[in-house]
Amino acid sequence: MTIRAVVKGVGHYLPTRVVENAEFEESLDTTDEWIRARSGIERRHFADESETTSTMATAAAQKALVMAGLDPSDIDALILATSTADFTFPSAATMVQAQLGMKSGFAFDVQAVCAGFVFAMANANALILSGQARRVLVIGAETFSRIMDWTDRSTCVLFGDGAGALILEAQEADGTAQDRGILSTDLNSDGTYRDLLYVDGGVSTGTTGHLRMQGNQVFRHAVEKLAATATTAMERADVTEDQVDWVVPHQANIRIIQGTAKKLGLPMERVIVTVQDHGNTSAASIPLALSVGHERGQIKTGDLLVTEAIGGGLAWGAVVLRW
Ligand code: UT7
Repeated sequence: MTIRAVVKGVGHYLPTRVVENAEFEESLDTTDEWIRARSGIERRHFADESETTSTMATAAAQKALVMAGLDPSDIDALILATSTADFTFPSAATMVQAQLGMKSGFAFDVQAVCAGFVFAMANANALILSGQARRVLVIGAETFSRIMDWTDRSTCVLFGDGAGALILEAQEADGTAQDRGILSTDLNSDGTYRDLLYVDGGVSTGTTGHLRMQGNQVFRHAVEKLAATATTAMERADVTEDQVDWVVPHQANIRIIQGTAKKLGLPMERVIVTVQDHGNTSAASIPLALSVGHERGQIKTGDLLVTEAIGGGLAWGAVVLRW
């Protein structure tokens, strides 16, 4: 008998303000055609003044709790993956804890940029397997609209805001690849690639800063590293590509998603794609895709899922789970 971290609930929140590609044509030397062709993005949601990473995370968490039939007091640990916490500190996670009315347990942020949700899931899994927590609320939430340089056409058209949440619960299982829950994880980072994707502000500058990216360089690393980490995670879980029902990739660029699927030998019919509607929501993109994929009726109980993500750091990783 073994313990697995099994999905009990999922939910998401998207700001009401939707911005179509064409809106950028008014202020930038860009076109809807370029953005669609190079990234697959058609629109994204932007937070209004009242919406922050913590408020969106709370809204997503409340939906996941409803689906799980749980109260905030049933949660032992809350992990929030974000690079855009409301404040330098306290953690956005403790702010969500307060907004949920959760008076027990512990909460903390995980910062691995676009790979944040994969890192948070792996941490939640470790807490559950070590017996430190029975139920973990794992959230990815971002307001990248607040760190955009609106004069930089090579970045500001790519990102969006939103939040997604997942509840994982310890359950006894057989210890085989047929179990529900997280079957394997693989995490990686290499800080020597810092200059490819970073924010030029923080406590050392006294500013919030703006996102800077050498997009084509990140692209080059993405397909290769995402396919490699997904393959490692599948080997650890003792599953093969043909058994995978859904790849749920980080939603940065449709060409990266297609390239990785091709390298893994998986058809696009088995890939959850939301990038056209959300843009790149960094750590929120995988839980958003999980929630939307579940809502669309694509992801069903018992399905074998591979999630994979890469982002600033560089940091990248994958999680294999049976829904
Ligand atoms: O989530 C974290 C990880 N991030 C990613 O995975 C992002 C990875 N990178 C990408 O998605 C792509 O590299 C981009 C979508 C950012 C760019 O696509 P690309 O095919 O790599 O284009 P590029 O950067 O090589 O730029 C091609 C041209 C350049 O013009 P020149 O130098 O060829 O004259 C750019 O200046 O496209 C130009 N360009 C634009 N043109 C119109 C860049 N941004 C725009 C724009 N509209 N918004």
